[in-house]
Amino acid sequence: MTAAPSPRCERVVELSADELRARLPEAVRVYVTAMGYPTWATQQRIPIWSAHMSRAGWRCVVAFNDRDEVSGVGYGYSGATGQWWHEQVRRGMLERLPQQRAHEWLDDYFELTELHVHPDTQGHGLGESILRTLLASAPGAKVLLSTPEGPTRAWRLYRRLGFVDVLRDYRFSGDPRPFAVLGRDLPLEA
Ligand SMILES: CC(C)(COP(=O)(O)OP(=O)(O)OC[C@H]1O[C@@H](n2cnc3c(N)ncnc32)[C@H](O)[C@@H]1OP(=O)(O)O)[C@@H](O)C(=O)NCCC(=O)NCCS
Repeated sequence: MTAAPSPRCERVVELSADELRARLPEAVRVYVTAMGYPTWATQQRIPIWSAHMSRAGWRCVVAFNDRDEVSGVGYGYSGATGQWWHEQVRRGMLERLPQQRAHEWLDDYFELTELHVHPDTQGHGLGESILRTLLASAPGAKVLLSTPEGPTRAWRLYRRLGFVDVLRDYRFSGDPRPFAVLGRDLPLEA
């Protein structure tokens, strides 16, 4: 008996908030599976992703496989004063960077909030395709993201696309893991 073939990526498309809402539990499940989180985390994250959809500059790109299942998702929005992530990163930048440099990063940027590919389809360039599509329409002069420290596929992807160190070994409140904050100028060259 031969194993069933893995599903193939069919299309990578930008979704409106209404379109994502219609597939939200499925998209969040991809995130939970990719991160290795317990399944109950899906219900916890759905309201958070929903709230992010109303933020200025919100953009989302989803990859569907040939069974019309979500196989990857990425989204982000314009960073702004008062947002939790913005304030955390701002604190770190003001502690570690010259004030002028912190302003250059924070004045007009797109926060890459989530980027995940289902483990069944990782390692074939899908994450890069989602990220490139997302950044092609992202507002802002810069893009910033945070990722756990460590040699991961995510790191290889971000380096390949020219992301540079902004903060290293940074601790966000309430999370003991060290993170890096990475960034680059927009637009991203083709
Ligand atoms: C990080 C993540 C989104 C990257 O997505 P991905 O589809 O797995 O990865 P990429 O698009 O970067 O492609 C990676 C590999 O595909 C290969 N590749 C690129 N284009 C390809 C193509 N056209 N055909 C075949 N392979 C290709 C690359 O050589 C690369 O190999 P390597 O990573 O072994 O060096 C995904 O691995 C993931 O969801 N990880 C877990 C969650 C996570 O860490 N998210 C990020 C949090 S900050």
